[in-house]
Amino acid sequence: MIARAIDTGEAGDITLESVYDIVREHAERLVSMLIKKPKIARNADEILMDDRINLIIEAASQEAVRQYAIKALSNGKDLMVMSTGALIDDEFFIEVSRVARKQGRKVYVPSGAIVGLDNVKAAAVRSVDEVMLVTRKPPKSFEGAPFIKKRNIDLSRISEETVLFEGSAREAVRLFPRNVNVSASLSLAGIGADRTRVRIIADPKADRITHEIHVRGEFGEIFTKTINKPFPENPKTSYIAALSAIATLRKISGSIIVGT
Ligand SMILES: NC(=O)c1ccc[n+]([C@@H]2O[C@H](COP(=O)([O-])OP(=O)(O)OC[C@H]3O[C@@H](n4cnc5c(N)ncnc54)[C@H](O)[C@@H]3O)[C@@H](O)[C@H]2O)c1
Repeated sequence: MIARAIDTGEAGDITLESVYDIVREHAERLVSMLIKKPKIARNADEILMDDRINLIIEAASQEAVRQYAIKALSNGKDLMVMSTGALIDDEFFIEVSRVARKQGRKVYVPSGAIVGLDNVKAAAVRSVDEVMLVTRKPPKSFEGAPFIKKRNIDLSRISEETVLFEGSAREAVRLFPRNVNVSASLSLAGIGADRTRVRIIADPKADRITHEIHVRGEFGEIFTKTINKPFPENPKTSYIAALSAIATLRKISGSIIVGT
C-alpha cells in the first residue's frame, strides 16, 4: 500500500527508485502492481549504497532494522522505520541516534495504528506518572507470536474476552513482536519501554482492532481510543497504520508540517 501510494503520487513528491526483499518473488509481485517500475535490488547493499536514494523505508521486520539501519544512516540516508519494536533495544537506539546525529540524517517513526502520540510527546516534556496501552484484537491476530507458541495456547478455543498479557512494553514487544509496534512507538514518544504498561486482550467477538491509551502526568490526563479496521490483505495489521506511513511520507516531502 505504501509503494502504491508513492506510485500514484498519493504520498507526495517522492519517487520509488528501488525495492528489496529477501524473498525476490515478493519484490517482483510488488513491482508488478506498480505503474512506474522501480528497480529490484539483488541485495540490500544495492539500495544502501545507491547515491540517488535519500530515504530508506523499512516495512520488513525488526531484524531488517537491526541489519540495515546503521548502514543506511552511515551512507547518508534518512530512514523510516515501521518495525518500531527494534528501536526499544536501548543500546541499538543509542547507536542509531548517534550515527543519525553524526551524519545529519533523520529517523522517522510513523504513529502507526494509534492516535495521540502528538501530545504524549508533549506531555513527556515534563513529568508523566503513567502510560498504559490496552490492545484488543481477534484471537487469530496473535497467531505465531512467541508468547502463544511458548504457552501452547490454542487460539481457536478462546471463547470469551481473555487477557493474554499484562506487563511492560519491553516484554510485550519481545513476546508479540509483530502485534505491538504500537507499544514500541508509544514508549519512544513517552516514558520508555520499561515504564510503559501494556495489556493485550484476545476478544473473539471483536471485528475491529482497538487501542486505548491512558496517560497521566503533570499536564493532566489523556485517554484515547482508536477503532481500526484490519488491513484487508493482512488482518494482523490495521488499515490506519499504512495510511499513517503514507501521511509521514507526505510530511517528509511537504513544506508545512501540521501537528506536534
Ligand atoms: N508501525 C506500525 O504501525 C506497523 C504497522 C504494520 C506493520 N508493521 C511492521 O512492519 C513490518 C512489515 O509488516 P507487513 O505486514 O508488511 O509484513 P509482511 O510479512 O507482509 O512483509 C514483510 C516483507 O519483508 C520481507 N523481509 C523480512 N525481513 C527482511 C529482511 N531482513 N530484508 C529484506 N526483506 C525482508 C519479507 O520477505 C516480506 O516480503 C513488520 O515488522 C510489522 O510488524 C508496523
